[in-house]
Amino acid sequence: MSGEPRLAVRGLTKRFGGLLAVNQCSFEVEAGSVVGLIGPNGSGKSTVFNLITNLLRADAGSVLHDGTPLGGLKLHEVARRGIGRTFQEVKIFRELSVWENLGLAALGRGLADWQPRARSLLADFKFGHLENESGENLSIGQQRLLELSMQLLVQPDLLLLDEPLAGVHPVVRETIAGIVRGQRSAGRAILLIEHDMRFVMDLCDRVVVMDHGEKIADGPPAQIRGDEKVIEALLGASRGAEH
Ligand SMILES: Nc1ncnc2c1ncn2[C@@H]1O[C@H](COP(=O)(O)OP(=O)(O)OP(=O)(O)O)[C@@H](O)[C@H]1O
Ligand SMILES: [Mg+2]
Repeated sequence: MSGEPRLAVRGLTKRFGGLLAVNQCSFEVEAGSVVGLIGPNGSGKSTVFNLITNLLRADAGSVLHDGTPLGGLKLHEVARRGIGRTFQEVKIFRELSVWENLGLAALGRGLADWQPRARSLLADFKFGHLENESGENLSIGQQRLLELSMQLLVQPDLLLLDEPLAGVHPVVRETIAGIVRGQRSAGRAILLIEHDMRFVMDLCDRVVVMDHGEKIADGPPAQIRGDEKVIEALLGASRGAEH
């Protein structure tokens, strides 16, 4: 144990031309905890994920995994350090079967003897019967479960989930909630972007709130729920969406 948080984000900043998408953002995720990253559309949440995983290069700030800086690592090196990530727009190979997708994920991570673990993940997530089904025939929820399984094959100690419930049927939502709880019990750290407030407030140990690229709150769900600035940012955004 290093005594360091599993994930530490320090002063992360990213500009897209004139737009300051992420501004001096800092927060931590401890091992064995679930942290929610919430905020209105466009507040910079997915960009934070892209910066953590080095899909984008930060203009300033750093990301530490168990105290080790990730800056400069290539995408596959970040993954091989034990960081799993799912995307807001699911990333699977749609023309390949569920089993082939898992095989490719194993290959990408240099994982031998992956089959027994893949089989047990499919069984746990109740879609073993879809093993030979092509990705494009899966529902969104099943696609999200497949993408998650592809990440969990390598047992990452840090999981970044970008809107895992978006477009997902209630039954699969429960499965996904169970997976997140199981991962936390197993000591993994989970950072979760999600717009479903009930899910976030029920599941998360802490919630980080962003608005216009800045962190405006960071605390346990009970504290976040009563925070005036958070209520204003989230309600303001939904009022805006109605007009
Ligand atoms: N690659 C990019 N190039 C230019 N602008 C970008 C890029 N990625 C994101 N942005 C802009 O940065 C801002 C933050 O986007 P981001 O996707 O991080 O928001 P988000 O909080 O994930 O929103 P949502 O809840 O809608 O997914 C937005 O204004 C977006 O248009
Ligand atoms: Mg997003």
